[in-house]
Amino acid sequence: MTLGILGGGQLGRMTAFAALRMGLDVRFLVPEPADSVACFAGVTVGDWNDPDVLRRFAEGCDAVTVESEWAPADRLADAAPGVPVWPSPETLRLVRDKAAQRRRLAEAHLPQPPFRVCESEGAFREAAGALGLPVVVKRRRGSYDGYGNATVRQGTELAVAWARLADTDGVLVEAFVPFEAELSVIVARSRDGETVVYPVFYTEQRDHRCHAVVVPSGMPPGVEAEAVRVAVETVEAVGGVGLVAVELFALPDGQVLVNEIAPRPHNTGHLTIEACHTSQFENHARAVLGLPLGRTELRTLAACMVNVLGTTSGPVRLNALPDALTAPGVAVHLYGKRESRPRRKMGHVTALGADPAEVRARAEEAARRLVL
Ligand SMILES: Nc1ncnc2c1ncn2[C@@H]1O[C@H](COP(=O)(O)OP(=O)(O)O)[C@@H](O)[C@H]1O
Ligand SMILES: [Mg+2]
Repeated sequence: MTLGILGGGQLGRMTAFAALRMGLDVRFLVPEPADSVACFAGVTVGDWNDPDVLRRFAEGCDAVTVESEWAPADRLADAAPGVPVWPSPETLRLVRDKAAQRRRLAEAHLPQPPFRVCESEGAFREAAGALGLPVVVKRRRGSYDGYGNATVRQGTELAVAWARLADTDGVLVEAFVPFEAELSVIVARSRDGETVVYPVFYTEQRDHRCHAVVVPSGMPPGVEAEAVRVAVETVEAVGGVGLVAVELFALPDGQVLVNEIAPRPHNTGHLTIEACHTSQFENHARAVLGLPLGRTELRTLAACMVNVLGTTSGPVRLNALPDALTAPGVAVHLYGKRESRPRRKMGHVTALGADPAEVRARAEEAARRLVL
C-alpha cells in the first residue's frame, strides 16, 4: 500500500515513520526541498498546483493526505479523481475559513464562543460593541500559531485590528473566552466511519503557540466526558476522515466550547507516540487508507510533551543533544531542520511517568537543555 502526503514538515515526517513501520510505502510531494523529509526516498519536488504534477504523484497511491490544511488536496482530487483524498475537499473548504467553520458548528448546535462574521469595518465596530470588549479578532484564512489573531481590549484598537486582519470578505470576531484551561481532543475516523478518541489532553499556549501538553488533563470526569462528546460531534459536523484535532476551551462552570479544528495530526498529539498504544500518526495513516484503527488508551499513567523552539537564526548544531539525552525517561524528537530561527518548531520532548507535575518538570528540563 502506498500513502501519498502533500507537504514535507514534521507532521509528514512522523506520519511516514509510523507508516513505514507497518510496511507501507510513503511518498511526498513538496513545492520546495524540505529538510524534515529529506531522509525519505520518495520525495518529489514540484509545482503542486500543476494538475500534471499532481496526477503523476497520485498515480499508484492508495490514498493521499495532507500535512497542512493549506496543501492543495482539492486540486489533487480534481486532477486524479480515482484516488481517495482525505481530508475531503469539502472538509478542507470548511476548515480553511474560520468563519465557515464557526457557521457549520453553529448549524450543528455545537457550543462555541459568541461570534460574528463582519464584512465591513462598520459591521465590525458594531459587532465588537454587541459582543462586548475584549474581543478576539481573527483573520479568516491562512493563519496559524496566533499570527492571524488580535485581542482588542479598547475601542481605540479596533481600526488597527481591522486594517491588519480584514480580508476582502472581512474578519471573524469572537467574544474573549475567560477559559480555565485549553484542552485538545484528538479523534481518528476511518473512511468507513469507525471512530476512536484519544484521552483528553491539557494544552498550554505561550504567545498563542503550543508550549506544553499534559495527560491526564486534571479536569473533572464530567468535563472530560463533555469534551469528548463535543469533539466527536464536531468531527462529524465537518465530515472529518483521518485524524482530526479539536481545540477546546474549558470554562470555570464546566462548559466546554470549541475553539478550532485541525483535520490532520496535531502538535497537541505528539505525546501519543510514547504515551498511547497507537500514535496519532499511525492512526491517521490507518484511517485514510481504510485500515482498522488502533487503540488509543494510555500505556502510562502520565505524560507530558514540551515543544523545542529555535532560539537563534542559523545552521543547527546538535551540541546540546547529548545533555538532553541524559534526562531520564525522556524521548527526544528533532525534526531534521537544518536551519534554526527564533520560535521555529525544531522538535519536542516527551516524558512518561506516574505523576503529571513530575513528568511536566522533567520534560520542561529536557526541553530547556535543547538550545538550538
Ligand atoms: N475567543 C477566544 N478567547 C480567548 N482566547 C482565545 C480565543 N480565541 C483564541 N484564543 C487564544 O489564542 C490561541 C490561538 O488561537 P486560534 O484561534 O487557535 O488560532 P491559530 O489558528 O493561530 O491556532 C488559542 O489557543 C487561545 O489560547
Ligand atoms: Mg489554534
